[in-house]
Amino acid sequence: MRKVNQFVDTKIAALRLSENQVDIWCARLPAVWDDGLFHSYCEILTSEESERYTRFAFENDRRQFLLTRALERDVLSRYLGVEPAALEFTRNEFGKPALAEPSGCPITYSLSHTKGLSVCAVAFEQMIGVDVESLQRTPSHRDISKRFFAAPEAAYLETIDEGQKRAEFIRLWTLKEAFVKARGLGLSIPLNSFEIKMYPDRPPWVFFSDEVHGHEADWRFLQIRFGHSFHIAIALNKPKSKELAVRFSTITPLTEERASLILESNGLNTWVVEEV
Ligand SMILES: CC(C)(COP(=O)(O)OP(=O)(O)OC[C@H]1O[C@@H](n2cnc3c(N)ncnc32)[C@H](O)[C@@H]1OP(=O)(O)O)[C@@H](O)C(=O)NCCC(=O)NCCS
Repeated sequence: MRKVNQFVDTKIAALRLSENQVDIWCARLPAVWDDGLFHSYCEILTSEESERYTRFAFENDRRQFLLTRALERDVLSRYLGVEPAALEFTRNEFGKPALAEPSGCPITYSLSHTKGLSVCAVAFEQMIGVDVESLQRTPSHRDISKRFFAAPEAAYLETIDEGQKRAEFIRLWTLKEAFVKARGLGLSIPLNSFEIKMYPDRPPWVFFSDEVHGHEADWRFLQIRFGHSFHIAIALNKPKSKELAVRFSTITPLTEERASLILESNGLNTWVVEEV
């Protein structure tokens, strides 16, 4: 039987989330900031967040931080039927955020941001991690893969044509980051304790060299290229045998501006979303 989140099954809540669903919310950093919106984002910051806000050296980083905070509150409040400002958050010892108030809430989520885009991925009770990277970034993939990748991953990258290498590196990197974020244990996870294997004709699969990660078949990976600029990876602790609906939305937090679409299932769990 399909379980439905009781928190969202109320009169005041607008959005439902079932255990067989994952919601991905994207907010773009506006090129021009509306003063009213800027102030409404500032108003919802806690004192600790305000302090973090002032510590960013660059204006764009400050704004990206504001956008992420507004996205986190707006998105979660939509499922819970409470005001965004009423939510309270906590973090585990490794920094993974979670809802503290309302307590006992079965909604799980993960945040990621890169220059120009903040993403919030939401699931029902399952461990979830999201990572977004800008496709314009030019990371030194050789150095990073030697340092952070499992040996088979680094060897796989070496087999990729030069022209495709950067894109494949970003795919692999975001998948690994998404897994690390879903586990919520930060860099205490040895990065070679798991290996993501890429296939041309089926979704990535994770292999574990350490039993602490549980069963490999309980993890699934989703990938979305959003517009020309962003690659998003999601790791979800949900047996691959179970059905999954993926809803993708763009939003201007704390406004009524929102557009959504259901991503039709396909054999690769990979989608290209031009604009919603
Ligand atoms: C912090 C980390 C979780 C992700 O950092 P990142 O990729 O630089 O940044 P992202 O924007 O994707 O994610 C940052 C968000 O992750 C969340 N986060 C922080 N610690 C987290 C943790 N332990 N678990 C899950 N999520 C976490 C927070 O919401 C944070 O944003 P916020 O502070 O504004 O709320 C961590 O994986 C990291 O430091 N990575 C560094 C690179 C690396 O070694 N990667 C190895 C994989 S190949």
